[in-house]
Parts: sequence; structure tokens; C-alpha cells
Amino acid sequence: MVVDLKATNSCHIITQVVDILSSALDPPPGDHRVSISNIVCDPLTLDRASSIGDPRTPPCGRSHTAVMTKRVFVDHAETMRMDCSGRTIVVTGGSSGIGRSIALTAAERGANVVVADLEQSPREGGTPTTEAVRDTGSESEFVNADVTDLEDLRRAAEVASELDGTFDAWVNNAGYGATDELTKTDAENWERSIETNLTGVYHGCLTAVESMLANGGGSIVNIASGAGVIGFLNSASYSAAKGGVIALTQQVAVDYAADGIRVNAVSPGFTDTEMLRQDTHDGTESYAEKKTPMRRTGTPEEVADTVVFLVSDSASFITGENVRVDGGYTVQ
Ligand code: NAI
Repeated sequence: MVVDLKATNSCHIITQVVDILSSALDPPPGDHRVSISNIVCDPLTLDRASSIGDPRTPPCGRSHTAVMTKRVFVDHAETMRMDCSGRTIVVTGGSSGIGRSIALTAAERGANVVVADLEQSPREGGTPTTEAVRDTGSESEFVNADVTDLEDLRRAAEVASELDGTFDAWVNNAGYGATDELTKTDAENWERSIETNLTGVYHGCLTAVESMLANGGGSIVNIASGAGVIGFLNSASYSAAKGGVIALTQQVAVDYAADGIRVNAVSPGFTDTEMLRQDTHDGTESYAEKKTPMRRTGTPEEVADTVVFLVSDSASFITGENVRVDGGYTVQ
């Protein structure tokens, strides 16, 4: 494409190119290489543009043809839209709470969704996630899966590969809210918590990486917790598992970055789901509101927005990160 511009400096050129591409050509999100010709050199202002650093014609004052190649973010709003169209995402524990919200948020942005969960019915009630996803126009399948069983997750990956779209995103969200301080943590509590919250994430990462290596890359998000970041009341086995999730995330991110696989963690603070309402000690909700600097619990949607950002190309240079979505709980 050739763009004729009369520009007084390089910033001016780039601004015009962005405007033209954004409004006239409706380009896809991302960055684009743009060749510009017929630059009218202005000796007074091109000198000042040296910080832009691209090849350009000398500031000779004459109008002539030249070519400048510049990597341009075409449309900031477009790139931040977290577009997921043409993709398929697997969400473990996607029937309820945060996982359900991740599934619906991704579907609203165009993704097909495979829900891998022990139960199809949401813990909080309502229509199953797969039905709600289909209502958005996306495709969705439910796979009855226990994350503690590697073969169940491999089945979920197969189902995802059969759905329309590129299977390139996986969210390890399923979790079990094991509570109790160390002296009250029995073997059953410890084993179930580690199996579900940590081994389940290992199984999900392994399954996703196997598929993504074959498919040329992808993005994984592991749901950890503020309990994996700081000391947390009544959460010995849960905190140990979630800390392990953050460490595993970093390790897998480093190992497979060169293969085009990004791996990040999201650590929610107290979030308004059945896990918080039903699975914790009496008074945890009011404790959460009092102790969170923003003086409220988070919503599943607030966590989901961050997860979908991380799986999308908007986060194309982010890997190994642990993003805390907790109203400031872990930084006070
Ligand atoms: P939730 O209890 O509302 O939903 C969890 C979902 O995971 C359910 O649909 C459940 O059936 C499924 N699940 C449980 N064990 C499973 C297994 N072995 N295999 C497959 N699916 C299984 O919980 P919530 O609050 O939505 O939690 C989602 C994630 O967020 C969990 O990893 C949790 O540890 C984490 N988290 C939650 C916080 C909160 O305050 N709600 C705070 C920090 C982290």
C-alpha cells in the first residue's frame, strides 16, 4: 500500500498512518509494518524527529519519494479489546464461579469453550455454562473431567481440537477450598488439596503444552491465589498448593517460551463465589471485606477479565507473571 502524506515530522507521519489504517482499512489488532513513500522533507522539523530512529530521507527540503518502515500499533483500542475470535479455550472448573465467568467472558469475545468439570450444574445455580456460552453464538462442549486424572484432561483436549477454531488457550481454574490451620490439617485434607489444586494444574499444563507444541504455540493461565503469595489464615494445604502453582507457572513459562507458549498465573483475592460463601469458616466473608483495602470482595467477572486479557494477543509479551486481582489484599 502507498500512502501520500505531507508531514512535518516523523510523529506526524505515524499519527496520520495510524488514523488512515484505523478508519479506512479496519486492520486487525496488533502491530504492523508500514512503508511510507513520498515524504516531503522539512529541514526545520525532521531534525527534531531523530528520536524516532527510523531510516528517512535527509532533511533536504524537497518533495521526493522515500520509504520509511515503522512498526506501528495501529489502533490501541482495537488491540486492547482482547479479541478471542477463532479460538478455542479449555476452562477446568468452568461450570461455576470464576471458571464460569472466564468461559462466558471469553465467549463474548468470540471464543469457543470446552468446560471440563466434575459437575455440569453451576454451584450457584442457573443454566449450565455450555448453554450460556452457546447463547452468545459460540460453540461449547462439556467434558466430565476430574483434574486429578490426567486422562480426563487429555479427553478435554481432544474435544477442544474437534471444535471449530484453533485450540490454543487453556485455563487451569478448578480448585478446592481446603481450609484449616496446620495442626488441624489431616491427611485427607492435605492430599485432596494438593491433588486438586496443584497436581490438577500440573496435569492441565502437561496436557496443554503437549497440544500446543504440536499446534505451534498457545497460552495457559493458572488460577493461583493470594494464599500462595502471603501467609493466609487457616489454609495450610491450600496455601502450599497455590504457592506451588505460582512456582510451576514460572518454570513452565521459561521452558516453553521459545516454543510460543505463554504461561501466566492469576491470583484472586477474596472473590464472591460459592467457594467463599460455603467452603470457608464462618465469618470469612465479613473478614474479607474488612481486611481487603478496597473494603469489598471481588467479583468473578473482575478475575475473568484479567484471565482473558492474559490468554489474548493483548498480552503477547507477558509470560511467567502472577497477576494479583485482590483489591490490594496482598500488598498491604
Ligand atoms: P467454585 O467452588 O465456585 O468453583 C469451582 C469449580 O471447580 C466447580 O465447578 C467445581 O465443580 C470444579 N471442581 C472442583 N474440583 C474439581 C476437580 N477435581 N476436577 C474438575 N473440576 C473440579 O470456586 P471458585 O471460587 O470459582 O474458584 C475457582 C478458582 O479460583 C479455584 O482454583 C480457587 O482456588 C481460586 N480462588 C478462589 C478464591 C475465592 O475467594 N473464591 C480466592 C482465590 C483463589
